[in-house]
Amino acid sequence: MQIGVIGLGRMGSFYAQTLAHLGRNVQLAAVSDPDPRARENVASRLSVPRVLADYEAMFQGPRLDAVVIASPASAHADQVVAAARAGVAILCEKPLALTLEQTRAVLTIVQQASATLQVGFMRRFDTGYRQAKQLIDAGRIGRPTIFKAIGRDPTCPSIEYAHPARSGGLMADMAIHDFDLARWLMSSEVERVTAEGANLACEALASVGDIDNAVINLRFANGAIGNVEVSRNARYGYDVRTEVLGSEGAVSVGDPAVAAEGGARMLARPTLQPNGIPFFIRRFEAAYAAQIEDFIDCLEHGRQPAIGGVDALAAFEIARAATISWQTRNPVALSELRAANV
Ligand SMILES: NC(=O)c1ccc[n+]([C@@H]2O[C@H](COP(=O)([O-])OP(=O)(O)OC[C@H]3O[C@@H](n4cnc5c(N)ncnc54)[C@H](O)[C@@H]3O)[C@@H](O)[C@H]2O)c1
Repeated sequence: MQIGVIGLGRMGSFYAQTLAHLGRNVQLAAVSDPDPRARENVASRLSVPRVLADYEAMFQGPRLDAVVIASPASAHADQVVAAARAGVAILCEKPLALTLEQTRAVLTIVQQASATLQVGFMRRFDTGYRQAKQLIDAGRIGRPTIFKAIGRDPTCPSIEYAHPARSGGLMADMAIHDFDLARWLMSSEVERVTAEGANLACEALASVGDIDNAVINLRFANGAIGNVEVSRNARYGYDVRTEVLGSEGAVSVGDPAVAAEGGARMLARPTLQPNGIPFFIRRFEAAYAAQIEDFIDCLEHGRQPAIGGVDALAAFEIARAATISWQTRNPVALSELRAANV
C-alpha cells in the first residue's frame, strides 16, 4: 500500500515515521512540505522515494492508495478535495476546513468521489477512552447525565501555528477534541452551546484576535449537559481529563502523569527540560499509531472509517457555535448555526 504524507511538522513527521515502520505491506511513498527544512528533517531519517515541495505533485506521479494530511488547518480543504478527486483515501487532521460552508462543500466532493475519509480524532483510539466508552455503553454508570472535560496545553503556541486564520482558533483547533469526545461518549448530539472565553496569558494571541482560555457549556439532544474547559497555559504539563457522570456512577479518564489520585496535589512548572518530543505525542503516541493502523485496516478490508466526515462536521459545528457564543455572549442553537452555514 503506497501512502503519502502532506505537511511534515510535529504531527506529519510523526505520521511519516509511524508509516515508514508500520510493516503490514505499507510503504511511505511520498511526502510533501513547502518548507525545505521540514522535508530535509524527514528525508534524512526515513527512506522516502518522493520528497516534494508541492502537494499537488503527489497526485500526478505514481499512484498513491492513501494520504495523511497534517498541514495547517487552513490548507486541509483544498488538499482533501485534491486527494478525493485523485481517488486517494484520506486520513486528515482536524479540522477539515475553517467554516461550515467549506466543510460541507468538502464533504460533498468526498462523497461524490466515493473517497474514504477518516478524521484525526485520535483520542478515540486511546486505551483509557476506549475503556470509558465500553463501560458507558455497557450501562455501568447508568444513564449519562454530565460530561466534563479539561484540556490544557502546557505553553502558549506559536502565532505561526495558532493564528485563527491558519488553525481555526482555540475552539476549532483545541476544544474540538473534547467536542468529539462529548458526542461519542454521551452517544448524543449537542444541540446548544454557551461559551465564555478570554485572553489571559498568551498576549501574542490577543494581537491576532484569539483567546487562550475558555469554558463551554453544552446541552445534549438527549437532555444531558456538559462542560468543557480549555486552556493554552497550564505550565505544569499537558493535562487532558474527562469525566462522565451517570445516574449510577461515573467514569473518568486522565493522564496518570498529572491527574491527582486523591487529596490535593501541587502541579508546578517542571524543572526538567522536555526532551523535544511534542507534548501531545508524548501523551497520545499509542493512540496516533492505533489511528493510522485502523485507517490501514479500513483500506485493506474495504471497511468505512469509524470516525468520518459526519464526525468532522459535527465536532466542528460545536466549535463554531462555541466561537460565536463567546464572541456574541449569547447561547447558540446548532439548528440556527446550520441555517446560517458560517
Ligand atoms: N490530533 C492532535 O492531537 C493534534 C496535535 C497537534 C496538531 N494537530 C493538527 O495537525 C496539523 C498539523 O499540526 P502540527 O502541530 O504538525 O503543525 P506544525 O506547524 O508543526 O507543522 C505544519 C507543517 O505544515 C507545513 N505546511 C504549511 N503549509 C503547507 C501546505 N500548504 N501544504 C503542506 N504542508 C504545509 C509547514 O511547513 C509545517 O512543516 C494541524 O491540522 C493541527 O490541528 C493535531
